[in-house]
Amino acid sequence: MRKPVVLITGANGELGHSLIEHFSKTDDHHIVALDLNPLDRDLRAMCVAAIVGDILDQNLLKRLISEFEIHAIYHLAALLSTRAEYTPDTAHAVNVNGTLNLLQLAHEQSRWHGHPVKFLFPSSIAAYGLPDPETKEKAGKVRENEWNFPTTMYGCNKLYCEQLGRYFTHHYRQLAAEKAPSGVDFRSIRYPGLISAKTLPTGGTSDYAPEMLHAAAQGKAYGCFVPERARLPFMAMPDAIKAIVMLAAAPRAAITQHVYNIGGFSLTAAEIRERVAKAFPKADISYAVDHPRARIVDSWPGDVDDSAARRDWGWKADYSAERAFDEYLVPTIREYYARAGGK
Ligand code: NAD
Ligand code: SER
Repeated sequence: MRKPVVLITGANGELGHSLIEHFSKTDDHHIVALDLNPLDRDLRAMCVAAIVGDILDQNLLKRLISEFEIHAIYHLAALLSTRAEYTPDTAHAVNVNGTLNLLQLAHEQSRWHGHPVKFLFPSSIAAYGLPDPETKEKAGKVRENEWNFPTTMYGCNKLYCEQLGRYFTHHYRQLAAEKAPSGVDFRSIRYPGLISAKTLPTGGTSDYAPEMLHAAAQGKAYGCFVPERARLPFMAMPDAIKAIVMLAAAPRAAITQHVYNIGGFSLTAAEIRERVAKAFPKADISYAVDHPRARIVDSWPGDVDDSAARRDWGWKADYSAERAFDEYLVPTIREYYARAGGK
């Protein structure tokens, strides 16, 4: 008998860590974790299987189909924006071909067990592309269908995969003699930059915010790679988890679009620095601007309009900037490094 499970790809990443921890506290999810790297030891006990492998490996994906009955896929595996700019061909392979593989797997799984497979896809504010800081300032909160002109490989990959998900849900095999629903129920969130108190991102372009905070908490100096004025929308990790779980649980009939913005808080690099310095008065944060990376940040919106998510599935962030720093990031990070130091 194949076991009914939820598949999480990219499970050993930042979002994967928090999502597995979240599911481990609810008793109705059997998780199969998949990542290129071995899953951290403390998370392994929370999963029915922790597989080390590549989402581009067709044999591995076939093995998954034969062993498990997959009812939902949280497809988190990706190369993030900065890393993708250094290896655009690999990024395209992982971010696009990998997603296509998983969408096909979802379709096949649904044909086997006869139920729709929910496919949760974390897209990104990188799907937007504004031409310059002045336009960005004027644009304010952008809506999902505005400024869809990404300037990065990662952003192009995310925008295209959103469309692939929509295609698989509504039009896959539309010319087949026997037309049947694809069984893929694709739902996507365009996340702002995420900040976790427990894990550090790698290879992203919004990383300066978490890097500043984690460096200060460890008493390390940090050179911020964007200028003081650079503004992005950010979100505390617990809200990121809350959002994807809410979207997964929303009734299909309530969902009117395939991708949703969600808002947390919008801050400039200077405002983040100020909050970090308030919490860690010895923080040594300077600016060492990396202009090409800063231009990528300039092309992403300063804030997002999340009215569709609010209307369709009741989205509301728990963490404002104040709450995120005062009640989640600063206390958790203090405790985390105090414990790590004590080990
Ligand atoms: P992360 O880099 O921490 O995790 C990605 C994981 O994917 C890594 O553990 C990596 O080993 C794995 N991976 C990469 N290539 C793989 C492959 N070929 N096969 C199997 N596993 C592979 O990133 P994250 O912050 O956890 O992001 C998770 C998802 O959320 C990504 O899709 C990312 O684009 C999206 N997202 C993240 C942010 C953010 O700020 N962190 C913002 C918007 C969207
Ligand atoms: N935070 C991510 C990055 O910087 C965007 O999805 O790549």
